[in-house]
Amino acid sequence: MNSAVGHGEAIVPRENLDFGLDTMSDKYWFRGDPYKTRYLDALQLGFPDGERYFITSVRAFRDRITDPVMQEDVRNFMRQEGQHGMAHSRYNRMLQAQGLPIERMLEEFKRVLDADTARFSPEFNLAATAGFEHFTAMLAEAFFARSSVTAGADRHMVALFAWHAIEEMEHKAVAFDVMQQVAHVGYGKRAGAMLFATWRMASRSYLLTDILLKSDGFGFWARAGLHLKNFLWVYGPRRGIFGALTPKLLAYFKPGFHPRQLPNIHNYPNWVEAYERTGDPLIACQALLAAAYR
Ligand SMILES: [Fe+2]
Ligand SMILES: [Fe+2]
Repeated sequence: MNSAVGHGEAIVPRENLDFGLDTMSDKYWFRGDPYKTRYLDALQLGFPDGERYFITSVRAFRDRITDPVMQEDVRNFMRQEGQHGMAHSRYNRMLQAQGLPIERMLEEFKRVLDADTARFSPEFNLAATAGFEHFTAMLAEAFFARSSVTAGADRHMVALFAWHAIEEMEHKAVAFDVMQQVAHVGYGKRAGAMLFATWRMASRSYLLTDILLKSDGFGFWARAGLHLKNFLWVYGPRRGIFGALTPKLLAYFKPGFHPRQLPNIHNYPNWVEAYERTGDPLIACQALLAAAYR
């Protein structure tokens, strides 16, 4: 399978990692910055339910997979996503304890995802999953190719994001391969689903960030000012966490695109080596950042 692009990194499910999140002292863990912290909180808020949606979308085609390598990949993909969901749920409970309306936000988010699952065909849901997975695979590039992006942020949360980003790179082609080789989704649906995924990511992260900031006591004009002030941090074409990924996002729309055509970040092996040696995701994250560009 995938002879044109190789099989890529091994998909290694790592279980019950301890990030020491309960030792965090500052609720604004990203350099004490309310906007950037809440933006990233909002981004990770939807992971548990989002990942359940990914698993459900891929599982719908599982019975049709005949290739034993792909079956194994799907199994490991599901195990990784299950672990991600558990880790982010733990952090979501900490956010709830800060007095944020997390349970209500998650209920609403789950309603949206359930509506998508029911409204779209299994093929479109799988294509949307492949699109979202392209985003999560790019997270590593956004946050960890350069050490300056996360400098000064709480190392426990950074380590959580690093582990997640590493595993997203490992399984970045699983949903895509099932979509192409098993569900036989064509270019039009793949591209349409990616447009949908992009709009959903951008609109949801804005909306959820705004709700969190409002719950923190920021009034309308203060929030509008923060959104404006941080626009380039998110969407700046060169250094914005998502803006800088635009070329890789556009690459997804090429007819012959495959996720493994894009190389993983250069410091991926540093995380894997350090984690295998120590079993400690904080040390692995240190190694990842030590080998990152400045
Ligand atoms: Fe994940
Ligand atoms: Fe994923």
